[in-house]
Amino acid sequence: MISVAIDGPSGAGKSSMAKTLAAELGFIYVDTGAMYRSIGLYGMRKGIDLHNEETVKELLKEISIRLAFEDGSQHIYLNNEDVSQEIRKEEAGMAASAVASQTAVRQFLLDLQRNLAQNHNVLMDGRDIGTVILPNATVKIYLTASVQARTERRCKQLQEKGQSADFETVKKDIEQRDWQDINRKTAPLKKAEDAFEVDTSDMTLEQSFETMLQLIRKQAGLKGESI
Ligand code: DC
Repeated sequence: MISVAIDGPSGAGKSSMAKTLAAELGFIYVDTGAMYRSIGLYGMRKGIDLHNEETVKELLKEISIRLAFEDGSQHIYLNNEDVSQEIRKEEAGMAASAVASQTAVRQFLLDLQRNLAQNHNVLMDGRDIGTVILPNATVKIYLTASVQARTERRCKQLQEKGQSADFETVKKDIEQRDWQDINRKTAPLKKAEDAFEVDTSDMTLEQSFETMLQLIRKQAGLKGESI
C-alpha cells in the first residue's frame, strides 16, 4: 500500500490539497483533524470539561468513529451519526484543540488511523502523521506557508463566506494555534526528518498542487496516471 503523510500548521492548505491530490491519484483521503473534531463535539454535547483528562478518557468508552467514502467525499460518523457538517463549526475546532493534546485521545485514534493506511492507498493529513502515525510512510510532506500568507488566505475565505475578518485578529489566532500545536507535550507538530518541505507562501493553488503531485509521483514511483 502507498501512504502519503501530509503534516503542517493550520491554514497551510493541507486539507484542500490532500483532497484534490487524493482524487487525482485515486487514493483515499483521510482527514485526521475530523476525528479530533468528532471527539471534541461529543464532549461538547455532553457538557463535560474538555480539559479534564480523566473525564475525557472515560468518555472515549462511549465513542465509536467511522469514516466512509461516499460519492467521492469523506463522511465521518460519530456513533453512527453523520457529523461531517457539524464538526466544521468553530466551536468544534476549539473543542478538538482541547482534546488533541491528551495522550488517551491520541492513543484511541492511533489504531484507527494506522488501520486505514494498512488497507488502502491513503493520503493522510494532520500534525503527527509522518512522525508518529506512519513513520514508514511512502512519502512525507511538510506543507507550510508564512504567517502572513496564511492570514491573507484565511481573511479571504472569511470574506467570501460573508463573515468579517480583522487581519490582526486572524493573524493572532494563527500564531496562537501554531504555538499550541508546536509546544504541546504529546505528538507536537514538527517536520519529520525525512519529510519534504513545501512552502506555498508564494505559490498559487495550481502551483502548490503541481509541486506536490510531481513530488508524490516521483517518490512513490508512480507514472503520470491514477492507479
Ligand atoms: O486540522 P484541523 O483544524 O481539522 O484540526 C483540528 C484540531 O485537531 C487542531 O487543534 C489540531 C488537532 N490535530 C492534531 O492534533 N493531530 C492531527 N493529526 C490532526 C489534528
